[in-house]
Amino acid sequence: MAGRVVLAYSGGLDTSVAVHWMTAELGGEVIAVAVDVGQEADFEAIRQRALAAGAVEAVVVDAKDEFAADFIAPSLAANALYEGRYPLVSALSRPVIVRHLVAEARRHGAGAVAHGCTGKGNDQVRFEVGTRALAPDLDILAPVRVWGMTREATIAYAEKHDLPITISRDRIYSIDENLWGKAIECGILEDPWAAPPEDVFSLTVPTATEPVELVVGFEAGVPVSLDGTPLRLVDLIAKVGAVAGSTGFGRVDMVEGRRVGIKSREVYECPASLALIAAHQDLEGLTLERDVAHEKLRLEPRFAELAYDGMWFSPLREAISAFVTSTQQHVTGEVRLRFLPGGGLDVVGRRSPVGLYDHGLATYDAADSFRHEDAEGFVRIFGLGVKTWAAGQRRGLTGEST
Ligand code: ARG
Repeated sequence: MAGRVVLAYSGGLDTSVAVHWMTAELGGEVIAVAVDVGQEADFEAIRQRALAAGAVEAVVVDAKDEFAADFIAPSLAANALYEGRYPLVSALSRPVIVRHLVAEARRHGAGAVAHGCTGKGNDQVRFEVGTRALAPDLDILAPVRVWGMTREATIAYAEKHDLPITISRDRIYSIDENLWGKAIECGILEDPWAAPPEDVFSLTVPTATEPVELVVGFEAGVPVSLDGTPLRLVDLIAKVGAVAGSTGFGRVDMVEGRRVGIKSREVYECPASLALIAAHQDLEGLTLERDVAHEKLRLEPRFAELAYDGMWFSPLREAISAFVTSTQQHVTGEVRLRFLPGGGLDVVGRRSPVGLYDHGLATYDAADSFRHEDAEGFVRIFGLGVKTWAAGQRRGLTGEST
């Protein structure tokens, strides 16, 4: 007896079969929860599909603003790119989904949460570690990991029980999408040598024939305006994505190291996230003090790893975020992005009311405020240790004593 179970429901084949399977095989009462994190979907149709599959209740949660404010913004502040390239699209949405699974479990008095992940991926890790962090008392069910059905068998199960699935036997790609981008897997992409066919792309289809410029305004590390017009973060991300994507910018094709030890070929479309990270990194160049900037660079990959590994709700991720937040106080200003037809991006300008660029110090023109005579002593003492070492080496070679 599984009792009441809150299932993270996508409307796809696996989670639809999971609703029926947990009801029929485990005697559970399934509450399906679909979370809107900005994916392209008809949520009312998804809700109806969950009920038709046997859910006792189906809930749709619009978490777009929360996703942007609590997960995307901190990740952008950390310029988070897993393995230097992947802006954590799926990894960021799982913790917000977990937050709502736990909230719905409390609201409905459920004793367990469930997800439709397989045993091979990262998402199971994120769902389960996240749930244990927020609600250590809840049980976790992973029906897809235990039912042992192939994809064919899963489709046959759905057909046998008349489950309303929209998936056809020849649908080839596995897709996960949200405000921060899109992940595309499976099919021909499982051959890391095979170039991705054009038809896998939807957010980065190049149509622009001229360069396009966008001015992104930031306040304390958060993007707040485009070309001078204030925008809600969710709308700003969508707008940047549309402009950047129309030039073909934002594709990533990589072999990635999953938490579970598997290397996998991943294709991503991330026009908004990669453009905003480029702009944010550039503005930090202007506004962060040198030592702070360098220390932050050391922590950024760790932040990305923790988020990727499902450790969003962990003391270390929170401590790194606290450091990042304290660095962002003066990351305020504007960045000029120029997107080039064919997918290129140049950052061509930046300015800030609190920038650290001092023209009087930096200029090579005659009229400057820098005290050149101070440099001589500074450089001499800076190099003293190396000079002393070199002199010792030479004595060692020639056998002289001090
Ligand atoms: N490899 C990426 C990640 O681990 C994408 C996962 C996509 N998830 C999916 N269910 N298709 O974050």
